[in-house]
Amino acid sequence: MRYLVTGGAGFIGSNFIRYIFNKYGADAQVVNLDKLTYAGIRENLAEYEGKPNYRFLQGDISEPADVEEAYKGIGGQGIDVVVNFAAETHVDRSLMEAGSFIRTDVHGVLVLLEEARKHAPRLKKFIQISTDEVYGSIESGSFRETDPLSPRNPYSASKCGGDRMAYAYSETYGLPVVVTRASNNYGPFQYPEKLIPLFVTNAIDDQPLPLYGDGKNVRDWLYVEDHCAAVDFLVEHGQKGEIYNIGGGNEIENIEITHRILELTGKPKSLIKPVADRQGHDRRYSLDTTKLEKLGFRTKATFEEAIVRTVDWYKQNEAWWRAIKEKSAEFKRYYEQQYGKR
Ligand code: NAD
Ligand code: DAU
Repeated sequence: MRYLVTGGAGFIGSNFIRYIFNKYGADAQVVNLDKLTYAGIRENLAEYEGKPNYRFLQGDISEPADVEEAYKGIGGQGIDVVVNFAAETHVDRSLMEAGSFIRTDVHGVLVLLEEARKHAPRLKKFIQISTDEVYGSIESGSFRETDPLSPRNPYSASKCGGDRMAYAYSETYGLPVVVTRASNNYGPFQYPEKLIPLFVTNAIDDQPLPLYGDGKNVRDWLYVEDHCAAVDFLVEHGQKGEIYNIGGGNEIENIEITHRILELTGKPKSLIKPVADRQGHDRRYSLDTTKLEKLGFRTKATFEEAIVRTVDWYKQNEAWWRAIKEKSAEFKRYYEQQYGKR
């Protein structure tokens, strides 16, 4: 199989490429198209550089010339499957500046789809990685794929645009589009601006853990390897024009996760710093995953064991996150703006 993976230098994309190479070895070819924004780290996949079945291409999914080049594949052999992970992904940053979210998460998807039209009917699948945030917040019960969409922040509104554009290209032009809506991922290589890696690394350094609002917001935590396995499963079994929720089945309040992180790092609760809430903070996400389960997929990780593995990874890979937190001027600027006066 010849894959075009976009955003493969980011958290989930780099885990997905590693998952594909571990599973299919030399039978898989991967082109990784990534703009290398602040969140893209090419070295996440250093072990594959120079291999004949891996090609890294620095480029922007909203630039037609970059996308055209990526669809050529490796040595002009073309692409069978596109998996679009590329996106601006952080809700807090979308509250500071939303234009880049529209450019990548909406317009970028359009550019990828337009190029896909040129490569149909060869293209077997176009997987658009969407998010559970497109449904909005839910007080009780769980969202199904048929529920109305009600995104409530600039990030989720942009992702909703990309989600619906991909669907439209399936309906209008018959492209083999599958849309996935996953819940909150955690695991190795997650940029330390998101809750779990930020709190783990702050705790290691005895820095405050800035908990928004009352800390009782609920997220459904999905181990990244399970997410990668689900996407791989859908490359094979996903039906054209269909949407699939991918959840972890681990709904946990932020305060509970914070306590667990402090236990696993051996740090005191006094590090918790309640801060002003996120504007428009979604209270709870919850997914009904019956559709994916009926197709034959089940997640493997339990939160209890995967959070231990995750915390261990950050303990053992300090050089990786210190290069961001201590050496990136961009990260320091962001951190100061986000938390400085909070
Ligand atoms: P990330 O921020 O870690 O990585 C995003 C990657 O996309 C980076 O490598 C970045 O350089 C690249 N990128 C950004 N703009 C680009 C552009 N214009 N062209 C090419 N590359 C570009 O994100 P992540 O957490 O790995 O998320 C990956 C995907 O999964 C996103 O589409 C996100 O919306 C979706 N998602 C994430 C989660 C989660 O919990 N992290 C859950 C559900 C869905
Ligand atoms: O649900 C899927 C989404 O999960 C993805 O689509 C997004 O790309 C991903 O970033 C994530 O969004 P969240 O906003 O849920 O993730 P984040 O890690 O930013 O926040 C998780 C929860 O923790 C949320 O309720 C806000 C809270 N939080 C977060 C940070 C960064 C804090 O209390 N303090 C913090 O400093």
